[in-house]
Amino acid sequence: MSSERGPDLPPVADRVLLDAGSIAERVRELGAAIAEDHAGEDLRLITVLRGGAMFLADLCRAVDASLQLDYMAVSSYVGGAPGAVRITKDLDDDIEGAAVIVVEDIIDTGLTLNYVLSMLRARKPASLGVCTLLDKDVRRIVDLPVTYRGFSIPDRFVIGYGLDLGGLYRNLPYVATVRDEAIV
Ligand code: PRP
Repeated sequence: MSSERGPDLPPVADRVLLDAGSIAERVRELGAAIAEDHAGEDLRLITVLRGGAMFLADLCRAVDASLQLDYMAVSSYVGGAPGAVRITKDLDDDIEGAAVIVVEDIIDTGLTLNYVLSMLRARKPASLGVCTLLDKDVRRIVDLPVTYRGFSIPDRFVIGYGLDLGGLYRNLPYVATVRDEAIV
């Protein structure tokens, strides 16, 4: 049950960082900007599973333009360079000549997205942009072009709206910070 203080938080969380209304409003703004920038193009919104799926689902419905969706999944490449990933589920569609936007729930060090972008760039899209809901930019290791940014957030572990702790809490409708003692 919700209280006057807002939604009940799971015990691992200490406070709501972004409530559902603020997220929805920002998603609408991002969707409008994407529609304006890419009207008439062969627009593809791509996300990297699993966390980005929820943001993508809301974002695509805020883009008043013709577009297609596609999904990929990556996992850390053990023994590879720091942040190296391998594709565990590739895109279904060819992206050559398309206006591609990679949709992420969060960018932290930027290493994952850096690898994903380099793999996608090799497939010769007409353009390659990035839309992230959350940007923990103080943690960035590699410089990345972030075309659309929802919120810049502090260096705290966050859950909700696609983001997990041990696989849980992705379904929270808000983004909350996690208590330090709950992070294993
Ligand atoms: C998250 C997020 C990014 C990555 C960002 O995915 O979706 O892909 O971490 O971190 P980085 O900028 O330091 O590389 P995660 O590995 O948690 O997987 P998930 O989406 O399946 O939860």
